[in-house]
Amino acid sequence: MGEIKGQVALVTGGTRGIGLAISERLVERGVKVAAGYSRDAEAAKRLVDAHPEADITLHQGNIGRAEDCERVIGEVIEQHGRLDILVNNAGINIDKTVRKMSPEDWDQVVRVNLSGAFYLSRAVLNHMTERKHGRIINISSVIGLTGNVGQANYAAAKSGLFGLTMSLALETAKKGVTVNSVAPGFIETEMVTAMPEKALEKVIAQIPVGRLGRGDEVARVVEFLADPDSSYITGEVYGINGGLYM
Ligand SMILES: NC(=O)c1ccc[n+]([C@@H]2O[C@H](COP(=O)([O-])OP(=O)(O)OC[C@H]3O[C@@H](n4cnc5c(N)ncnc54)[C@H](OP(=O)(O)O)[C@@H]3O)[C@@H](O)[C@H]2O)c1
Repeated sequence: MGEIKGQVALVTGGTRGIGLAISERLVERGVKVAAGYSRDAEAAKRLVDAHPEADITLHQGNIGRAEDCERVIGEVIEQHGRLDILVNNAGINIDKTVRKMSPEDWDQVVRVNLSGAFYLSRAVLNHMTERKHGRIINISSVIGLTGNVGQANYAAAKSGLFGLTMSLALETAKKGVTVNSVAPGFIETEMVTAMPEKALEKVIAQIPVGRLGRGDEVARVVEFLADPDSSYITGEVYGINGGLYM
């Protein structure tokens, strides 16, 4: 069925960490990547400079704002003529115990990690269903399955992505659109290496494989789900966690 080569993917947070690995994997497969970012314009430029042969466009915006999401989806469709794959990857964490967490800390994390995926999916849905083809992949987290001390906002948002994934999968199942989630464990990016060294050592000690994961190990699952041939997989959660949660 169809080829992924020549398709267009929007990868939010596609210029750093896991998102960068996803962008690069899709570029290798001949996908035209629209990479979203919020503040780090240097990282965005580095992605384009590293792949002069590829058709990469950059899209600045805050996915915690519905109007930015609608604008970015419009920009991508205007510049590339189509949008086949949406990877809702961008995310943040503001870690505090519930006692110390302010309503603003809660709102900000839920808005970026959960509402952003809703705003973007909503903005692209008509386009995908009219073309009878689409792949939406939500990057959740193992923390959405287990919870974690100091991460109530993050865990709630990441669990919420599972509900969004399943509901949207049901709503689009007959329209050629699949919607799946990926739940990485601890992956070696700034989000994780920013943890205090002692805490990180404790985490690694709990991972059966004995190390942090790599962005490319997440990207290969995203690439698989994004493929036109993965048409009978929808509403699923794929864990990539070195055996941390099974
Ligand atoms: N690392 C892990 O162990 C791990 C585990 C499970 C799940 N995850 C999830 O995987 C995703 C990527 O994580 P990561 O570790 O690669 O994070 P990261 O290195 O901190 O990168 C985050 C990316 O999201 C973008 N971003 C942040 N806030 C944004 C906003 N408001 N609007 C638009 N873009 C925004 C950033 O853009 P700028 O560079 O412009 O700021 C950056 O590209 C996140 O959803 C995270 O929750 C990560």
